Amino acid sequence: MMGDGGRFVSWATLDDAPVLECDVAIFGSGIAGLTVASSLPDSLKILVFSKGPFGDGSTPYAQGGIAAAVGSDDEPSIHATDTLVAAVGIADPAAVAVLTSEAPDAIAFLEKTGTKFDKIDGRLALTLEGGHSRRRIVHAGGDATGAEISRSLFEAVGSRGISILNEAFLVDLLLDRHGHAAGAIVLIAGEVHLVRFSFAVLASGGAGQIYSATTSPASCTGDGMAVAYRAGAELADMEFVQFHPTVLVSDRDPRPLISEALRGEGAVLRDGHGDLVMEGAHPRGDLAPRDVVSRRMVELMVAQGVDQLYLDARPIASMMSARFPTISASLRQIGVDPARDQIPVSPASHYSIGGVRTSVDGLTSVPRLYSVGEAASVGIHGANRLASNSLLEGVVFGRRIALHIASTSGRSRNVDFEDVPRKLASTRNSTDRRQIRLAMDLYAGVIRDRHGLELLLKMFEQYPKSRVPCNQESIEQANMVMLSELIVRSALSREESRGAHFRQDIPDTVNSWRVRQLISRVGDQEPKISALAPDQPS
Ligand code: SIN
Repeated sequence: MMGDGGRFVSWATLDDAPVLECDVAIFGSGIAGLTVASSLPDSLKILVFSKGPFGDGSTPYAQGGIAAAVGSDDEPSIHATDTLVAAVGIADPAAVAVLTSEAPDAIAFLEKTGTKFDKIDGRLALTLEGGHSRRRIVHAGGDATGAEISRSLFEAVGSRGISILNEAFLVDLLLDRHGHAAGAIVLIAGEVHLVRFSFAVLASGGAGQIYSATTSPASCTGDGMAVAYRAGAELADMEFVQFHPTVLVSDRDPRPLISEALRGEGAVLRDGHGDLVMEGAHPRGDLAPRDVVSRRMVELMVAQGVDQLYLDARPIASMMSARFPTISASLRQIGVDPARDQIPVSPASHYSIGGVRTSVDGLTSVPRLYSVGEAASVGIHGANRLASNSLLEGVVFGRRIALHIASTSGRSRNVDFEDVPRKLASTRNSTDRRQIRLAMDLYAGVIRDRHGLELLLKMFEQYPKSRVPCNQESIEQANMVMLSELIVRSALSREESRGAHFRQDIPDTVNSWRVRQLISRVGDQEPKISALAPDQPS
């Protein structure tokens, strides 16, 4: 078997492929995947597939922290209200209640796993971020929260003898004759392998790389979402892409994040004239929800004809190196001294709010297939994710998936795979990843309109369709084209502005659009989009 670019995945290439067997196949080795792995019973055989080397996903980059109502002035219902307000009317209140009420237990679980959170006088140190009405962001290593959580979960999984297979790229899922997820095609170090499982968990992260200005690392090409869509699963909320307001202006890919926690501690946004960007723009000023701050910045940048604004961290200069060591190091590398210089920033894509639609137990619309974390859409973020709810979602819903699998009977792996080539038959592809990314920045970014979205669709429609190639780079590109198209179709369909989806041709929020959009595959035809009331259980 080989991973050469000229071949296509077909039944013939799978016939002689080595077969791996397990009870639970987990695709993704970030906070979500490792929480599932470390919470499953010892009696199950678990395999974790990591797309690249361990740690190549978004989790180790997470800075600000993980939200939980653990302060003495806080409670889960206040955290829930903040989450629902940021979500602009279309989060699922039941899912939000699960997230926020299980958040303190999630922190306790991580501490038990070995995560060393920052403390003051023996109590968890709490910071503030946009959209939160209380200090409730728990952090580690100052601004190295994700890296510390990754370390502790990796050690916990390792100490249980669970295997993590590196350089293992998920190509497609295979269904049995009943339509249940039963197997997967995986390229391991470029070689085709078949995996048979009883349950699979897609915890493979978001699709931030479909934009050229992004904080998401190279691995974030949305493979889990694309694979689920091809297997017939519903995706939800795809039009909502979160742009983080304060991303360092730099040629680096991904671009370094300047955590919102700096504004939580007192840094402020200024334009090139030194004027405050958020003054008068929102009652919470610099700590308004992210969509509001990003939009205000883009509008101002367009009006002033500039491509960057500034984060003024001089008011917090004395705490920078101890409280924000990762950011201080990034700034040093480019010669910026936050005690003297303002930090050049602009918004960049940061988080895929949409993903594989799941229930609060992580179940997708394909039996035996679960999804969690950025790959999933359980309905907690609505139109705009509240800061630091993403690490939290990985832990809360990851633990629930483990419980659900442990209580589900029937672990047969004797499956007859369906006709694989037919399912993998066609997907649009482009060899020009750069073109897709720049076009998405331009026409499907913080500010959109019908004209730009239609131009994108026309561009995608010109890409030829072919069978799935036997080569990681080409499959990633096909996934990027597919997800870009689904984002654009969902954005065109939503004829209003809400949260992270702002259409300058329809700037108002429209009450009849207080629905989530689901999108699913109908053979080789155009995807089907349907509406779901936010309080309709997933
Ligand atoms: C940040 O530190 O600003 C990012 C936190 C998040 O994305 O929730």
